[in-house]
Amino acid sequence: MIGIVLAGGLGTRLSPLTDVTNKHLLPVYDRPMIYYPIQTLVTAGIHDILLVTGGNSAGDFLRLLGNGRGFGLAHLDYVYQEGEGGIAAALLLARYYAEGKRMVVILGDNIIEDDIAPHVEAFRSQAQGAKILLKKVDDPQRFGVAELDGDHVVSIEEKPQRPKTPYAVTGIYMYDSRVFSIIDGLEPSQRGELEITDVNNDYIQNSVMTFDFLNGWWTDAGTFGSLLRASLLVARKKGALPGGVDGAMV
Ligand code: G1P
Repeated sequence: MIGIVLAGGLGTRLSPLTDVTNKHLLPVYDRPMIYYPIQTLVTAGIHDILLVTGGNSAGDFLRLLGNGRGFGLAHLDYVYQEGEGGIAAALLLARYYAEGKRMVVILGDNIIEDDIAPHVEAFRSQAQGAKILLKKVDDPQRFGVAELDGDHVVSIEEKPQRPKTPYAVTGIYMYDSRVFSIIDGLEPSQRGELEITDVNNDYIQNSVMTFDFLNGWWTDAGTFGSLLRASLLVARKKGALPGGVDGAMV
């Protein structure tokens, strides 16, 4: 199983913080944002990791992370995304690295409390296809939203105005190597991007998509509000918030 961290994009929703640096280098409490998704993969036992980045300050990732020794890794691999094209377009750049292997893909701004190892184990024993991780949220219209029927995902809608359920599709995806041929067949969405939701809906239509719920907290960090929330959640987890602040804010 390999890991792929997607850390490109221009992060325009966080301008001016991202005018001269990459979103994933911004602080989340006491670490750069990118530390968290890498640690999530390493904690799940994944040691072959490819970081896909681009845009502003791409070279700073190498200076910051090197070969990943700080995470106990022997090596860390990098690929550069020229321009923008959506999450699925970024993932396509990992094709050479994946070479028929299964993968856990994590968005560089997704930060979670728990260990995903049990979900990765479940995916290992799945014959084929993909697995997504869901989380019940108060603001599902900001995310991909899964419609469920018992233990089946029926469909995913990307940022629907009227979400059918409160179940956000988190930015942690597990795929078999067929994912790249699915992306090959995608058309850009209305916002001009190759959408990861279209990839997931392809797996759903072929009845090879499973899902689990994430237990602990989960947040993205791509807006001012969620970036602050991410810092507060991490600080609270580390026992670093003064009494009274945490409950009121996160
Ligand atoms: C992306 C995906 C969305 C998913 C979210 C998780 O949204 O398109 O389906 O729920 O990540 O963080 P974005 O952050 O690019 O708006």
